[in-house]
Amino acid sequence: MRKVGISRSLFVIGCLSISLMAHSQTPVAERQQELIHLVKQDCGSCHGMTLKGGLGPALTQQALADKPKQFLIDTILYGREALAMPPWQGILTKDEVIWMVDQLTQGSDALNQPQLHVQTKAQDEVGQ
Ligand code: HEC
Repeated sequence: MRKVGISRSLFVIGCLSISLMAHSQTPVAERQQELIHLVKQDCGSCHGMTLKGGLGPALTQQALADKPKQFLIDTILYGREALAMPPWQGILTKDEVIWMVDQLTQGSDALNQPQLHVQTKAQDEVGQ
């Protein structure tokens, strides 16, 4: 009996550390698709569907070329609420934002490809 209990707790600890590791690295492929979707839909609703600017400034590779990455990461995580840029911490992890900023500043192909339909968690919650 005891042995089973110990191996079960080891299993739980193992799973926990795997999920913690996943959060401190590049998002998994499925999450990457969700993030690309989010950039196009949610960020795109203010920054323009092609990210060339709207209510918010352009987020294209050229537009971001002179901006320090840390400044962009902080802007996305903490927002500039007085200036209508919402904070994304709580919705996105820091690692996800770092990955997102990499995609934006590298002008990632994924951002320019036609939108694949990805059901995001937020859409699941509102039943869309
Ligand atoms: C409700 C509208 C809105 C949404 C949604 C939004 N933004 Fe913004 N964002 C803004 C505005 C407005 C600014 C400019 C704030 C200012 O004047 O400094 C901004 C600024 C930024 C900047 C700084 C750009 C620069 O040149 O300094 C980045 C980076 C950015 N947003 C990324 C994002 C990302 C990534 C998302 C999605 C996760 C997002 N934004 C969603 C409105 C929005």
